[in-house]
Amino acid sequence: MDVSEIGYGAWGIGGKQWQGGTDDESVRALHRAFELGLNFIDTALAYGDGHSERLVGQVLPSAPHPIYVATKVPPKNRTWPATPGSAIDDVFPYDYIISCTEESLRNLKLDAVDLQQLHVWDPGWTVRDEWKRAFEDLKKAGKIRAAGISINDHQPDTALEVIKTGLIDSVQVIYNIFDQTPAEQLFPLTQERNIGVLARVPLDEGSLTGTITEDASFAGDEFRSFYFREDRKKQVVEHVAKLEEDLKREPGTLPEIALRFCLSHPAVSSVIPGMRRVRNVESNCNVSEQGPLSAELLAKLKNHAWNKNFYR
Ligand SMILES: NC(=O)c1ccc[n+]([C@@H]2O[C@H](COP(=O)([O-])OP(=O)(O)OC[C@H]3O[C@@H](n4cnc5c(N)ncnc54)[C@H](OP(=O)(O)O)[C@@H]3O)[C@@H](O)[C@H]2O)c1
Repeated sequence: MDVSEIGYGAWGIGGKQWQGGTDDESVRALHRAFELGLNFIDTALAYGDGHSERLVGQVLPSAPHPIYVATKVPPKNRTWPATPGSAIDDVFPYDYIISCTEESLRNLKLDAVDLQQLHVWDPGWTVRDEWKRAFEDLKKAGKIRAAGISINDHQPDTALEVIKTGLIDSVQVIYNIFDQTPAEQLFPLTQERNIGVLARVPLDEGSLTGTITEDASFAGDEFRSFYFREDRKKQVVEHVAKLEEDLKREPGTLPEIALRFCLSHPAVSSVIPGMRRVRNVESNCNVSEQGPLSAELLAKLKNHAWNKNFYR
């Protein structure tokens, strides 16, 4: 699949966990992204309990070119990330993978999705049959064209074994200036095996846009009020200040450089920033024309890797 380098991360437009957007603005942002050549959307059944998928389904018929759509099967036990050692029967039983896919197709008003992904992963499931049979049967029925997994937060190496089975087509992984660990073992293997890579959370949920200040506030039930809780905004401000010091002489804004960082790795098929606003779509879609960052800058950015897990 020839997906655009910039894909559309559609978590935020699902609402609920992301507030401060409107459906109207999301629809305009999606249309603008299509106009600018974007042809790939990453959504999930869990995003706003199907709301993100329904919005995507609403805009697809008026897209000016074919759009590749990826979605995800939520864990049946609604536990993100997967608890290590959890039983696959509680998370991804065969019938459940099939029925969730059918529900996504109804939301998206499609006969098939281009990519179906498992929304969490545990390496213990590599040897299990349930997900393999479900993906195989969905492909045979023409309901999915490709199948992949979305790797648990900051644990890229937990996908190494499943990639070696040859039974998945893609992985989705956190990859950004702060978390560069996928480049160590995961990316060389995906390149060797010709596996698609979707780089998610390229802006570290907003940290790498430079807009998270110490007094930034989010609605109490918003995901970001958890992610940026306690002294985390202060930590972000300190890390971003050091980063900006190193970028002083570089052309382009921080979010542009953050996205170009992801695209500079040849293993990455598409980077999928969340972008609910037209202005963010315009700025982000502009990035793919700018090419990779220089080797000197990439070397400097290595020093800004930051080992943290704000999802916990
Ligand atoms: N487990 C999983 O599989 C999983 C988990 C997380 C994410 N994902 C996927 O990855 C996608 C991206 O992650 P994300 O959306 O959580 O985080 P992200 O892309 O790292 O950051 C999104 C934030 O950056 C802001 N933003 C985007 N472009 C900007 C720009 N040019 N200038 C300033 N601000 C900008 C957005 O603004 P607005 O708030 O105005 O939109 C939003 O607040 C998701 O949408 C989803 O598709 C998957």
